[in-house]
Amino acid sequence: MSSLVTARRLARDLGEWRTAGPAYRTLADRVRVLLMDGRLSSGHRLPAERELSQALGVSRTTVAAAYAKLRDDGYLLSVRGSGSTLALPGGQRGSQPLETGLALDFTKATAPAYPGLAAAYQQAAEQLPRYLGHDGFDMTGLPELREAIAASYDARGLRTSPDQIMVTIGAQHALSLLTATLYSPGERILVEQPTYPHALDTFSAAGARLLALPVSAESGWDMAAAQLQIRRSAPSMAFLMPDFHNPTGLSLDVEDRARLTAAAQREGTVLVADETTAWLDIDRGPLPPLASFSGQVVTLGSLGKLAWGGLRIGWIRAPRELLARVLRNRPSMDLGTPLFEQLVATILMRDLPAMMANRALGLRRGRDTLVGLLAEHIPQWEVHVPDGGLSLWINTGTVSTSALALAARAEGLAIVPGPRFGLDGAFERYLRLPFAYQSDQLAEGVQILADVATRVGSSPLRMPLQAVI
Ligand SMILES: Cc1ncc(COP(=O)(O)O)c(C=O)c1O
Repeated sequence: MSSLVTARRLARDLGEWRTAGPAYRTLADRVRVLLMDGRLSSGHRLPAERELSQALGVSRTTVAAAYAKLRDDGYLLSVRGSGSTLALPGGQRGSQPLETGLALDFTKATAPAYPGLAAAYQQAAEQLPRYLGHDGFDMTGLPELREAIAASYDARGLRTSPDQIMVTIGAQHALSLLTATLYSPGERILVEQPTYPHALDTFSAAGARLLALPVSAESGWDMAAAQLQIRRSAPSMAFLMPDFHNPTGLSLDVEDRARLTAAAQREGTVLVADETTAWLDIDRGPLPPLASFSGQVVTLGSLGKLAWGGLRIGWIRAPRELLARVLRNRPSMDLGTPLFEQLVATILMRDLPAMMANRALGLRRGRDTLVGLLAEHIPQWEVHVPDGGLSLWINTGTVSTSALALAARAEGLAIVPGPRFGLDGAFERYLRLPFAYQSDQLAEGVQILADVATRVGSSPLRMPLQAVI
């Protein structure tokens, strides 16, 4: 069954879509961008032409021409009586992965596997026979892994017992489990703007109403807005990345950690601190974990960025009674974390300092190379240099990054347009560029961006309000 995208939602996701060139073509291109980056999928039904023309304030002819173009290009199927349904050329399902067949894929903020990873897999294979007498369904996590994870919090000054840890299939799974446990229909969730896109996917799949917590490279977290939102709307949960925030690379300072946890505690808002990026320190140094300020903070962790995305091991650190609720919800989603990967993770946790040092080295090299290339080839872009994380969050000033993504794609480079990281089509002028790539790949990518940026040109965009929805 196809689900209808309302005219209001489409207008919101399109944001400031109008740039130079015929309106119908820009509109068709922008719908394709949404399909490319996963905000729309094949099977979604587009609104009627009249409704969309009203919502966008353009003529019906413009919308009809945009739909006709999408149809001609194979992105829309129109059946009389049942509207226009998005499709992918060649009958593929889902959204159109940005990286399809492209030489350079800058869509993921990930890093290559830790060099010691293959040896850890081999060692785990030797240990595996000892575990085969067990039924293999593991919903809470191997005791030795939970101990190692708890010890990593102890080492950061946050006393943790293994029974406060549940091992999950990556942090994304942990977030889905937590959302299913903490969120009830009708409630609100406070989320950073910009944020990690798949967190937005998780919250919209739950039908959540989202409140924005603005984060900017210039002034960090907007604490006044956060405190106001929490006091006024008492969201059931707030999702944030206090350490090397994805995409900006910023860290929440110590006073703001204290202020935010106090505000959340007063209103009963559960703060979910996603620490997937917390071990990606280049030159910042340690800060106290958010959970050390309040017992009401739930923390997500992962080995995905430090060891390898393909390992798929993450965890939740939470009060025992909350973990018990998560455990009751878990069987509807999965029946446990694979044992072999947990053995690998246990071995890797012994190597934590070495993994962090190795990562810092690679990230520093990538960050400095990319910053240098951008300064040389696209000096007009405003680049804030982060002290950790995996990416630069660039203010291009006037470039529509949706148009840039389409043009770059034609040259073999996949990038994610800024609005994928926000609500309401915000951040059209922003671009996230991950830097954990080889220098020659970064150089090639920046060359393409410099070329297409001049071609796409610039247009003074009016940024939409960071509205509460
Ligand atoms: C902030 C953040 N949270 C969660 C995830 C997902 O982590 P995992 O691969 O452990 O599921 C990512 C991965 O990109 C991320 O950047």
